[in-house]
Amino acid sequence: MKKNRQATGSNTPDRRALSRRNFLAGAALIGAGLTVGPLLGTASSAEITSGSDKGLRKEKNRMKTRKLGKLEVSALGLGCMNFAWAYGPPTDRKHAIKVIRAAYERGVTFFDTAEVYGPFLSEEMVGAALAPIRDRVVIATKFGFEVDPITKQRHGLNSRPEHIKRVAEGCLKRLKTDTIDLFYQHRVDPNVPIEDVAGSVKALIQDGKVRYFGLSEAGGATIRRAHRELPVTAVQNEYSVWTRDPEHEVLPTCEELGIGFVPWSPLGMGYLTGKITPATTFDPVADLRAGFPRFTPEARRANRPVVELLQRVGRRKDATPGQVALAWLLAKKPWIVPIPGTTKLNHLEENLGALKVQLSAEDVKEIDDGFASIQVQGARAHEALLKVHDIGANLGTSSAGGHGLSPLRSQDRTDK
Ligand SMILES: NC(=O)c1ccc[n+]([C@@H]2O[C@H](COP(=O)([O-])OP(=O)(O)OC[C@H]3O[C@@H](n4cnc5c(N)ncnc54)[C@H](OP(=O)(O)O)[C@@H]3O)[C@@H](O)[C@H]2O)c1
Repeated sequence: MKKNRQATGSNTPDRRALSRRNFLAGAALIGAGLTVGPLLGTASSAEITSGSDKGLRKEKNRMKTRKLGKLEVSALGLGCMNFAWAYGPPTDRKHAIKVIRAAYERGVTFFDTAEVYGPFLSEEMVGAALAPIRDRVVIATKFGFEVDPITKQRHGLNSRPEHIKRVAEGCLKRLKTDTIDLFYQHRVDPNVPIEDVAGSVKALIQDGKVRYFGLSEAGGATIRRAHRELPVTAVQNEYSVWTRDPEHEVLPTCEELGIGFVPWSPLGMGYLTGKITPATTFDPVADLRAGFPRFTPEARRANRPVVELLQRVGRRKDATPGQVALAWLLAKKPWIVPIPGTTKLNHLEENLGALKVQLSAEDVKEIDDGFASIQVQGARAHEALLKVHDIGANLGTSSAGGHGLSPLRSQDRTDK
């Protein structure tokens, strides 16, 4: 199913007129076994039309929306990495499609994937799941790694212009669409000036193949340089109650420039839900957390006060620690849109319940003050991964406060 460009021009998936195409998509929706879920907000509505013998039957499926730059998305998105990779073996394809569609039924219109998840597999699942409702959702995907299409081996970073163009074509095919709504550079490439990367995405936008540009794991200087070349719609860096790096520099930069922020691993890779204990075992081959210092049994034990802090606030709000972790992100800034990832329907339900958890300024302060007295044990990833993880932060001014100078352009080395 091709994306309806006219409809996307409004930038608002949920206020689009019901065209014949929408009607057909609605019929396909029913064919795909989709129904409409509960109301989750009032700010806007995603209208789904479904066919019946006597004509159109309109049902409403609502979630509050937020703006990432000019792009309007549901207040919570769905991270689709885990269906294909990262915390276990790939999920059964049918089940993945079911969970993705269930998210849509519950009001989620923002789906996050990347070429490298699987690789390719997450995009294929997202494409298959969302094809019948393509006009009503926002799909974000990412380029920036060299992936062998045959062996599927990853061979480092690659954001060279011709490569970006090639990757975009593959993403479009797998996602079964003719437009990528949000195309992020996955990691800053030290060999390619960010201006060239922005220029390549600009060309894709001019060709109608991409709508908006994003950066992932980028530091302040990189964001500024990119934004000068082509407006950056969203920055996607790791951010959660226990991973606070973006607060030093990246979030203020986004605020100043009107860029949205999409925190990845908003549940601390599951830890902040409280369901991971020192006794939890991780698949040594398929689960990245098995090699992460923050997930050793000792670190899990030592970091428990973070969960207890969320539990304390959650008891007053009738909320789980995971819901408080998501509500904390939502309360921080109206232009923050978390994308919790899950492969399970009951976890999806729980996570979306975070939208009903209202944290006051005092609640947020309680979490921030409480966290300030906790020393988190263990790095957020292992050494080799961190080298790539932090590359954007290290190339620009650092998100942790200046531990790197940019090798790219001396005049951009300070945050200005
Ligand atoms: N830009 C980047 O470099 C980057 C890096 C990493 C991730 N991401 C994106 O961000 C998304 C989210 O990040 P993430 O998946 O790393 O971390 P996350 O959302 O913080 O946590 C996901 C983990 O938490 C578990 N979980 C989710 N909801 C739960 C619940 N209610 N109760 C118990 N466990 C729960 C999931 O397992 P179950 O499947 O069992 O629920 C999964 O293991 C990804 O899907 C991906 O799209 C981007």
